[in-house]
Amino acid sequence: TQARQQRPSQHPIQVIAHRGASDDAPEHTLAAYRKAIEDGADALECDVRLTADGHLVCVHDRRVNRTSNGRGAVSALELNELAALDFGSWKDREEAEAPDWDPVPGELTSVLTLERLLELLVETRAAGRPLQLAIETKHPTRWAGQVEERLLHLLKRFELDAPPSDAPSPVRIMSFSARSLHRIQDAAPQLPTVYLMQFVSPRLRDGRLPAGARIAGPGMRIVRSHPGYIDRLHRAGHRAHVWTVNEPEDVELCIRLGVEAIITNRPKQVLAQLGRA
Ligand code: G3P
Ligand code: CA
Repeated sequence: TQARQQRPSQHPIQVIAHRGASDDAPEHTLAAYRKAIEDGADALECDVRLTADGHLVCVHDRRVNRTSNGRGAVSALELNELAALDFGSWKDREEAEAPDWDPVPGELTSVLTLERLLELLVETRAAGRPLQLAIETKHPTRWAGQVEERLLHLLKRFELDAPPSDAPSPVRIMSFSARSLHRIQDAAPQLPTVYLMQFVSPRLRDGRLPAGARIAGPGMRIVRSHPGYIDRLHRAGHRAHVWTVNEPEDVELCIRLGVEAIITNRPKQVLAQLGRA
């Protein structure tokens, strides 16, 4: 298409499934991640939070109220309490039409631990698919390093904490917290880090990133209102991974500006728009 011809970079845009294929299946469930893999996503995105008993689980909100049949903060619940909840049915209720994901209760729609998601990543890669995972640390400052510590411990167990420098890392860490990324870079310098931004602070307007961050993660709102910012990032030597890009006109703008990755709830539609489906 005309948009693809305008794109300056030779590398294909990476398509990252935000919370899985979360438009089609309940976010952060195995059902959503399996669907994203089936749809052809290059990478998966997840948010991680610590439970009361120190497990990392994939949940976006501070509380489980929106995405499960339970109530309360993730940080106040133990893993076995979370495991008793249904993280799938809310999607049925939200949608007027019948769901096109498998609504059978069980592993597909129960709380997803990061450990289980890493297993899926490793299994998929072992089957020959170079799938990647972008893990976002949610409000890590509240836990004074515990989220990063637990995360690095898990990555080490899966031998994902020290990727070789000559191949793309299977895992990258994202955060709105520069301090969290700094901790990760200190402990695991080979892991790519993405600094997420809802707005661009004055000291970063020239395309610089905070110490510890290697890749920029601007929100789509920034890209729409300041399209020149992507060019500034590129000139400063940074890649741009943009979230959350669901509408065709936003995908088109990202293509035109030459962003390196699109984070989307609709991997299938974005891949089709990129001519990859
Ligand atoms: O991929 C980054 C994006 O997920 C950040 O926003 O609120 O969806 O976690 P949020
Ligand atoms: Ca996220």
